[in-house]
Amino acid sequence: MADSPLRPDKQQMRAAFEQSAEHYDGVAILQREVADRLLERLPLLKMVPETILDLGSGTGYCSEKLAAHYPKARITALDLATAMVTKTRHRFSGWQRFRRGHQFVCGDAESLPFADNSFEMVFSSLTIQWCENLEQTFGEIRRVLKPGGVLLYTTLGPDTLRELRASWAAVDKGVHVNTFLDMHDVGDAMLRARLAEPVMDMELLTMTYDDAMLLMRDLKTLGAHNVNPGRSHGLTSPKKIKTVTQTYESFRMPDGQLPASYEVVYGHAWRAQKETLQQPPGEFAIPLEQLGGKHG
Ligand SMILES: C[S@@+](CC[C@H](N)C(=O)[O-])C[C@H]1O[C@@H](n2cnc3c(N)ncnc32)[C@H](O)[C@@H]1O
Repeated sequence: MADSPLRPDKQQMRAAFEQSAEHYDGVAILQREVADRLLERLPLLKMVPETILDLGSGTGYCSEKLAAHYPKARITALDLATAMVTKTRHRFSGWQRFRRGHQFVCGDAESLPFADNSFEMVFSSLTIQWCENLEQTFGEIRRVLKPGGVLLYTTLGPDTLRELRASWAAVDKGVHVNTFLDMHDVGDAMLRARLAEPVMDMELLTMTYDDAMLLMRDLKTLGAHNVNPGRSHGLTSPKKIKTVTQTYESFRMPDGQLPASYEVVYGHAWRAQKETLQQPPGEFAIPLEQLGGKHG
């Protein structure tokens, strides 16, 4: 299956993240929560990696946590946006960088500037949803993983920002909110890229806001506003904004707050110790309690 045609415009997305690097940490509440939940899974792994790639490092929150969790590891932080790479680098002292040989690289997850078999772990929080071709991305991750190496990641599913998408639908038929692939499509891409034993699960997290304008402002500060090819390039009229914010009011909860839903998908998979050219078609696993529901 081909990835959805509505993938983000990479140039625009990169420019958005270059701009957001300065103020990202001040508004990245959901991103921190999701990263912490993924980091909490590290002790479940029966391995202590010495070479780790933090893919889409952003300002380096996960790189720093990974270095603390695995003090002997060499961390390579990679991001598409130079300003993000610089922020990550500044989290480490010159001594830390020298002693462990940490690396800070500007590059693209879909075409990784590393040799085959470079890392024992690839860790990636909330980056994969920005990639244009997921099979290509997972293929690159498999290539740079050593045999027996592990990938851990989070991404976003289609229910993310569903209230904002529904509110814009009251305005026009344009694409105003980024679109996200279904967990099953992400799992299929992992299988096509020949990652072994893929496992995925999801949960809905809800952020709350006093009003819809604050949500839209936060998305812009994060660099996570609409960068889809189908978006309008003109200025949005005050009348349209008013319609969106008024429609969003229908979601106001009994506690007086407006919800912003995030469908958070967690995944992990391995590079098989021994790869055969013709691997049998596999399946990805979803925890039993999530089968039979929306994603069953
Ligand atoms: C939402 S931020 C997450 C950053 C960090 N992992 C965290 O949890 O705070 C997504 C990051 O992915 C980067 N990114 C997006 N597409 C990328 C790509 N194709 N290759 C590398 N980095 C990418 C962006 O520049 C941005 O810094």
